[in-house]
Amino acid sequence: MSFISSQSEQWPQLLSRYCESRPSPAAQFWGAEQIVNAHQHHKIGGLMVAGELTAFVIYQVCQGILEVLYLETAPAFRGQGLMKRCLKALMGEEGCEELWLEVHESNWQAIKFYEDFGFSLQGTRPRYYRDGGAALVLSYLK
Ligand SMILES: CC(C)(COP(=O)(O)OP(=O)(O)OC[C@H]1O[C@@H](n2cnc3c(N)ncnc32)[C@H](O)[C@@H]1OP(=O)(O)O)[C@@H](O)C(=O)NCCC(=O)NCCS
Repeated sequence: MSFISSQSEQWPQLLSRYCESRPSPAAQFWGAEQIVNAHQHHKIGGLMVAGELTAFVIYQVCQGILEVLYLETAPAFRGQGLMKRCLKALMGEEGCEELWLEVHESNWQAIKFYEDFGFSLQGTRPRYYRDGGAALVLSYLK
């Protein structure tokens, strides 16, 4: 297993290949086009297992705070601790001890993951998503 940093020039190919086999996500998730083009606008870190991209985080860093814009583990690899490792490696890589993110109130799987990781609720943004759902604003301090 290896960590791929935002500096890697492989991101365009890695993301295109990942999205070719990605099942259609629910409406509140990032679409394939957004993911494939993410490296043009944002930073990305990820984990490779046996030559395949298995988990990735799209993010930005501002004043020492790492803001997660989107993260995903390939369906076949979920529940194996990969995203936990990926976020920890990313914090080490960026030298950040604070994370912030937003999550759809109905995304119980991600909310469970964030709770388990140690995130805490900072507030909500009502009707934040196109489907009318609220965003939970979460933060983590190492
Ligand atoms: C949320 C997500 C990234 C978690 O990735 P993951 O690699 O499966 O997470 P991990 O295996 O590192 O999980 C660590 C912990 O989170 C919790 N967890 C993760 N998935 C869970 C699930 N389906 N049900 C219950 N708990 C879960 C567990 O407590 C787990 O701890 P454990 O390994 O000690 O049991 C993954 O489910 C995913 O890609 N979801 C779809 C995309 C998405 O919703 N992104 C978030 C947008 S804001």
